[in-house]
Amino acid sequence: MDKMNQEKLNSADWESLKSLRTIFLSETAGGQKDYWSSSHLLELYHETFAQRIGWKWDAVLKDFSAKAIFNKKESYTVLDYGSGTGIATEKIVEHLGADNISDLWLWDKSRQAMEFSAQNLEKRFPKIPLTKLSEVQVPGGNWILILSHIVNELSKKELIEVLSLAEKADYVFWVEPGTHSTSRRLIEIRKKVLEKMVVLAPCQHQKACGMLSAKNEPHWCHHFASPPQEVFQHSFWGLFSRNLNIDLRSLPVSYLILGKKDTQALATSSEARIIGRPRLYKGNGKFLLCEESGVDDVLLLEKNHRSLFKDYKKDIFSKSIVK
Ligand SMILES: C[S@@+](CC[C@H](N)C(=O)[O-])C[C@H]1O[C@@H](n2cnc3c(N)ncnc32)[C@H](O)[C@@H]1O
Repeated sequence: MDKMNQEKLNSADWESLKSLRTIFLSETAGGQKDYWSSSHLLELYHETFAQRIGWKWDAVLKDFSAKAIFNKKESYTVLDYGSGTGIATEKIVEHLGADNISDLWLWDKSRQAMEFSAQNLEKRFPKIPLTKLSEVQVPGGNWILILSHIVNELSKKELIEVLSLAEKADYVFWVEPGTHSTSRRLIEIRKKVLEKMVVLAPCQHQKACGMLSAKNEPHWCHHFASPPQEVFQHSFWGLFSRNLNIDLRSLPVSYLILGKKDTQALATSSEARIIGRPRLYKGNGKFLLCEESGVDDVLLLEKNHRSLFKDYKKDIFSKSIVK
């Protein structure tokens, strides 16, 4: 796909992006008809919202240091369920390395989206064989299931199908916008697969999620990714921010990385994972901390956690601490 000239978006394009956003923000998008009305709309999406989604994947995959699971030098089929324009697959290949990927499988209920993502990915990774599925299938051999920004579009029945698929995968990477409702859906999914799979991230433990306790109802599991610095100097992204009323600095993300039953958990349960943004005051801060014993709001003193208070100014995606 040729990169579209971002500066040339007209008012109809901005209106199309606004309408798409309204669909995405809808809590009841499940059962929606195909909203990809043209390849131009897919292109607009790919150059805007999808890029932001890509930055979330960058943060998740960088943080997870995904290569740790690929040191066995095995190669995997990647199945992108709800591929859209293919940004999640792009990021998985970039981070895991093309050598670890034997082939790419795309599945989207929109034929137009699947065509678009196939063209995009064939251009980006011409050496990796690619298959456009006409129905969902389970790959033979090692494989990874990826899902991105789809949970609120799945009906109950589709979600059951996705979970049954997930349980057959070697790994599942699932990235969603960091809203209360999408995070809560991922937490429910985690609960459903907990007996059958290993939770590799973001959790530090394999116990029930602490967010499920009544006192944590107002909270949700989310982290903040950082967009590339150039974005803040780029006139197009300034326009994007003004026209769509989106704060470029805020990239909330909720995610889940799962491994099949015998996968070794990566995190150490002696550490607590910081959720969301801390509230920093003079000399101290309130942090929402997740650990095996639960999720709690904890007051930390700056003098005891100097590097944490300093790091938070530049890297707010995720941190774990020993209390
Ligand atoms: C918000 S878009 C996200 C696209 C892409 N994953 C991304 O992160 O940019 C959701 C995509 O999921 C697709 N989709 C929704 N429900 C689906 C289903 N049951 N099976 C396959 N694709 C589905 C839509 O057609 C759309 O392309």
